Amino acid sequence: MKKYYFGSNLKMYKTIRETTAYLTSLAELTNDIGREKIELFIIPSYTSLEQASASVDHGLIRLGAQNMCWEEQGQFTGEISPLMLQETEMDLVMIGHSERRHVFGERDEEENRKVKCALDHGLTALLCIGETAEDKQYGVGPEVLRMQLKKGFHEIDSASVGKLWVAYEPVWSIGVNGTPATAEYAEKMHGEIKKCLEEMFGEKSREIPVLYGGSVNPDNGEELIVQPSIDGLFVGRAAWQADRFNELIRNAMKAVGL
Ligand code: 13P
Repeated sequence: MKKYYFGSNLKMYKTIRETTAYLTSLAELTNDIGREKIELFIIPSYTSLEQASASVDHGLIRLGAQNMCWEEQGQFTGEISPLMLQETEMDLVMIGHSERRHVFGERDEEENRKVKCALDHGLTALLCIGETAEDKQYGVGPEVLRMQLKKGFHEIDSASVGKLWVAYEPVWSIGVNGTPATAEYAEKMHGEIKKCLEEMFGEKSREIPVLYGGSVNPDNGEELIVQPSIDGLFVGRAAWQADRFNELIRNAMKAVGL
């Protein structure tokens, strides 16, 4: 049976108290959903990680960090080390989110170092990729995605695929000014991503879930999740109220017959 992934990146929203209240409520609301069917994960801000981790059953909600340095320690002011994430018992780390790449100027080479470092420290690496509006306009979206995957997962052994997740988040679809991708477009790009992953990791690549993110909302969640190459939804704004996220998850599950 195919497992579906539902997660939210809390970005620079929610204080420690708001995060723990949100997690407690989300865990309660989704408690009855068998976790053999879905993987639910939340990615709060750094300052919330310790209390978030202590306040939630990781079997119900997996937790992740929004970014990480590729070194364990050193002269990297403002960065967070994998050891610090291990200390807060994080399950995963997001790498290369669109806002990291486009607001803070991160490059594929750095994402690759972070992916390697995450794997070395037993963390699942959620690599985010996506083309810009300009890439789309020039018709090079698939090439850009390929480049981000091939560089981001450079020198990663196929033995590690169990710890790799991918989120496809077209830059033009994210946030308040974003336009959600149509289900048809998203499916086409997910197909390209899966083809590339297969070239890189062979049959084992099927273990890598590919999630769609970018203005997922209660109106489009169902048509996206029913696409054969979409394994999950990575949600921002529409997930930040626990009851709304719970409803979105349940509607999506119904749509795929779970
Ligand atoms: P929105 O759903 O708010 O567009 O954000 C998506 C996102 O960036 C998830 O990482």
